Amino acid sequence: MNNILESKELNKTYVVNNKTQHNILKNVNLQIKKGEFVSVMGPSGSGKSTLLYNISGMDNVTSGSVFFNGHEISAFSENELAKLRLNKMGFIFQHIHLLKNLSIFDNIILSAYMAKVSSREKINQRALRLMKQTGISELANNDITQASGGQLQRVAICRALINNPDIVFGDEPTGALNSKSANEIMEILADINQAGTTIMIVTHDVKVAAKTERVLFMLDGNIIAEHQLGKYSKEKNDIKARENKLSRWLMEMGF
Ligand SMILES: Nc1ncnc2c1ncn2[C@@H]1O[C@H](COP(=O)(O)OP(=O)(O)OP(=O)(O)O)[C@@H](O)[C@H]1O
Ligand SMILES: [Mg+2]
Repeated sequence: MNNILESKELNKTYVVNNKTQHNILKNVNLQIKKGEFVSVMGPSGSGKSTLLYNISGMDNVTSGSVFFNGHEISAFSENELAKLRLNKMGFIFQHIHLLKNLSIFDNIILSAYMAKVSSREKINQRALRLMKQTGISELANNDITQASGGQLQRVAICRALINNPDIVFGDEPTGALNSKSANEIMEILADINQAGTTIMIVTHDVKVAAKTERVLFMLDGNIIAEHQLGKYSKEKNDIKARENKLSRWLMEMGF
């Protein structure tokens, strides 16, 4: 089983005011291999976020199927989906919902305590390791109001990784950040990917997408083209060359 995630003829339709039907995803066929780092680009409104929500079991598909590790999750119950998301998936969203009355550390460990995947001691150790890796160790006891946007994004990454997920989804994970912070977040994600976690993100930013392995281009509800960049490594790759190559391709796409 080479694909961690696969969609077959995936459709998503919204009915607005009980009459107008909007076909947002149109027969999307997508395969993501285990260990891949994929990004999705495309114009605003093309369906990128909708694709992410539907392929990750956060939303119900209208028709078609989604397979995760060979299991048809589009046929799962809400309960099964919640369990799957908690244990196997991590989510990093731009408008991260952190709990205001909990410390940063508690925000990170909460879902792991809920999932009960290991002892609280082990979970705490893992949280400390992740915080160290993302450079926010000193913030453990802070309130979330006492952290910058970039730091909160790191909190969101720690939280997404606390259950050691097979795959991490990000909708504009660097969207609210300046380019320096965005760069640092992407280096963290590249490291996580090197360590084996599959990652799928949506981004508008060429610099961000240039650090991913494969770029999908969405237009009007479908993936109309893709561009293979290969795995990114800070040591081995000339990032400017990757950015230029990707920019040229996007220009050909009319983006
Ligand atoms: N709950 C909903 N009800 C009705 N229409 C929706 C709903 N959610 C999204 N849409 C529509 O689906 C289309 C695709 O939205 P989506 O958020 O997936 O786009 P996107 O590519 O992520 O855009 P952006 O780059 O601006 O984030 C848009 O036209 C949007 O208005
Ligand atoms: Mg979006």
